[in-house]
Amino acid sequence: MTEWVAPIPAPDLAVAAALAFRSWFGVGPDGVWSAPGRVNLIGEHVDYAGGLSLPIALPHRTAVAVRGRADGVLRVRSGADRWDGTVAEVAPGAPGGWAGYLAGVAWAMRREGLLPDDFGADVTVVSAVPIGAGLSSSAALECALAIAVADLVGLTTDDTGRARLAGCCVAAENEIVGAPTGGLDQAIALRATAGHALLVDSGDGSVAPVPVDLEAEGLAVLVIDTRAPHRLVDGQYAERRRSVEASAERLGVPSLRAADASDVARLADRTLRRRAGHVVTEIARVRGTVALMASGRVAEIGPLLTASHVSLRDDFEVSCTELDSAVDAALAAGALGARMTGGGFGGSAIALVEESAIGRVAAAVASAAATRGLVTPGFLLAGAGGGPAHRIG
Ligand code: GLA
Repeated sequence: MTEWVAPIPAPDLAVAAALAFRSWFGVGPDGVWSAPGRVNLIGEHVDYAGGLSLPIALPHRTAVAVRGRADGVLRVRSGADRWDGTVAEVAPGAPGGWAGYLAGVAWAMRREGLLPDDFGADVTVVSAVPIGAGLSSSAALECALAIAVADLVGLTTDDTGRARLAGCCVAAENEIVGAPTGGLDQAIALRATAGHALLVDSGDGSVAPVPVDLEAEGLAVLVIDTRAPHRLVDGQYAERRRSVEASAERLGVPSLRAADASDVARLADRTLRRRAGHVVTEIARVRGTVALMASGRVAEIGPLLTASHVSLRDDFEVSCTELDSAVDAALAAGALGARMTGGGFGGSAIALVEESAIGRVAAAVASAAATRGLVTPGFLLAGAGGGPAHRIG
């Protein structure tokens, strides 16, 4: 038996968020906005090195119902959880937990001069993005609120405006939540184009949609949520980021984006050489993937995906037993390529599979997990690339 995690259609998500709002606050919201979770096709652990990534927005989205208020007060609700405070009192580490992502966005937007001093809001959250699965549930939460607030105060939400909002969401995550993540997740959640993957250039902040018509090729991206615990604030992510930045410093380059294999070979420290080697080869794999996709050869990207996994597993050392088991089982069952996706240390893997093989590959992954005594994974289909954060109700 394989467990599938279905997306929630936008109208249902909008109704659920508005109903939750009414039951918490006794009135209706000003509107409901949603933002997608993501899988990264390739380009992992390179965003904070100024590299290239190629995420796709999931059909699974997070919705926020929001009503603006003009007294600086924030009241946020998710399920049975609640936090009440003011935008002015938001500070590093406070509030903690999920509320920090929301409060942090308002804090960062105010610091950027995008909000009036008395801006406040009541907010309820409903999400179809699995939490803690490496599918960017946190960025979806941040970006849904950012676009909601932007609409409520009348900010421009063209791509330049969205890039600015993405910066605020990253600041919220880095400075208030304390997770030193790059900007990949927020870029896709706010700047995706439906029906496309997004080439995110973290060197200059630009994005470019890349058509990804998997269905026409009879292909699908199977997402495997290993359900192994996944945390980005536990120090390992920060340690990898530091080693990438230290490598650039030793090489005298602004970021590893500017380095090549011969530069990496000059690093005396073996660990730094392996970490930097991953970054440089991964950026090359993204270029290779985009080139194949641009020439209609998406079925051929499989080996690049698998090579990315091997590099993340052996050189960057961010994989884990559950992810390796999922990747190995998917490949053995006929996937064209497979890799961990997102930050790693748990979370999700993806497999590029022929549509006719989806069930077989999922069953093989689930059965490998059972045989090894691992937690039962969940499965999602990435679809054709969802749209960016926008108003849904
Ligand atoms: C997490 C971070 C991103 C990125 C990925 C790894 O998802 O939030 O910024 O670094 O890990 O590619």
